[in-house]
Amino acid sequence: MRDKKILITGGAGFIGSHVVRLFCNKYDQYKIFNLDKLTYAGNLENLEDIESFPNYKFIKGDVVDHDFINDLFDKEQFDSVIHLAAESHVDRSIEDPMAFINTNVFGTVNLLNAAKTIWNKDGKYAEQHLFYHVSTDEVYGSLGAEGLFTEDTSYDPKSPYSASKASSDHFVRAYANTYRMPIVITNCSNNYGANQFPEKLLPLFINNIKESKPLPVYGDGKYTRDWLWVNDHATAIDTVFHKGEKGETYNIGGFNEWMNIDLIKLLCKIMDHKLSRSKGTSEQLITYVKDRPGHDKRYAIDANKIKNKLGWEPSVTFEEGLEKTVDWYLENEKWLNNVTSGAYKEYYKKQYG
Ligand code: NAD
Ligand code: DAU
Repeated sequence: MRDKKILITGGAGFIGSHVVRLFCNKYDQYKIFNLDKLTYAGNLENLEDIESFPNYKFIKGDVVDHDFINDLFDKEQFDSVIHLAAESHVDRSIEDPMAFINTNVFGTVNLLNAAKTIWNKDGKYAEQHLFYHVSTDEVYGSLGAEGLFTEDTSYDPKSPYSASKASSDHFVRAYANTYRMPIVITNCSNNYGANQFPEKLLPLFINNIKESKPLPVYGDGKYTRDWLWVNDHATAIDTVFHKGEKGETYNIGGFNEWMNIDLIKLLCKIMDHKLSRSKGTSEQLITYVKDRPGHDKRYAIDANKIKNKLGWEPSVTFEEGLEKTVDWYLENEKWLNNVTSGAYKEYYKKQYG
């Protein structure tokens, strides 16, 4: 494997930190640049174990900042980009869509332009050039009781978040079509695991159960998601980065659909056991609250293309992954306190009590 300079954006966030760690541990010969603005969701504590690695460099910066991004690409001449930086929380996109358009759409196009400028100077791209966009299954919209999202499913985004991700996917494909940019896109289902900001369902509920606070279930709780352990998403990204065909899209999922309320009840059971509380204690915290506006009913991924063509599969069962995740949050109280303190504390308190 040849030396490569790889820019990973959003590497201080939840999924990005797992991708950066995997690449830094696995590929001594690569130089990994982690570009992150360190928003409320970005936290360098996520990467303490690898921050002194010689193949790792952190750069604080905003993907939306045109001059900064152009200067950075000009200086570092990255071979490839794995783009994860984004505003990622659906509820926030309902409150403040512009932040999502800025980072997810303008930020992505800014990176595409900068990559095109340095890669396509003499009208052709080199073998090592690749713009990898990490996207979501939410671009496909919402399913009824039957069916799965495949790579051929039409886009039908329904929230400001998913509309911004769909738009950025379209721009990535437009750069492939118009400027022959070598790209890949992956659309993944709901991730869970260590280092996820506790506004998302699983870390929020683990923390609330620990503190005996209400568990706010949106609507009737009969919404379905496919869940994938974040470490398995990182290995999928590694697989697609190295073996994926340029220009292609791959769906990534856990073959693991859960209705929210069933998942929440399973979590309650595990937490009762872990916290040595009597059976049924945590379930009593379940509180049905006002639904998320425009709440997508069901997401389900057909991940057979990446499985059959590239040989990737999840490494753990959901039960194993969930137990590892619960253990991590219970063992990392300091991390949880740190990410919910400081500038974010007021917002967090207002939202979650
Ligand atoms: P996250 O919110 O945990 O992390 C996002 C990171 O991007 C943070 O470190 C943040 O500081 C950084 N960032 C935000 N705006 C930036 C900007 N303008 N410039 C530079 N950095 C910026 O998100 P995540 O859950 O790790 O998601 C990562 C990517 O994967 C996103 O593109 C998201 O759409 C996609 N995705 C997420 C999931 C999921 O379940 N979490 C599933 C499928 C796809
Ligand atoms: O499908 C992939 C997407 O999964 C990613 O692209 C997004 O970045 C990621 O945030 C996630 O989106 P969701 O909206 O599915 O995740 P969230 O954890 O916010 O919610 C999961 C489900 O749980 C959803 O049906 C809403 C519900 N929910 C969520 C919260 C935070 C509740 O019932 N109560 C809650 O308090």
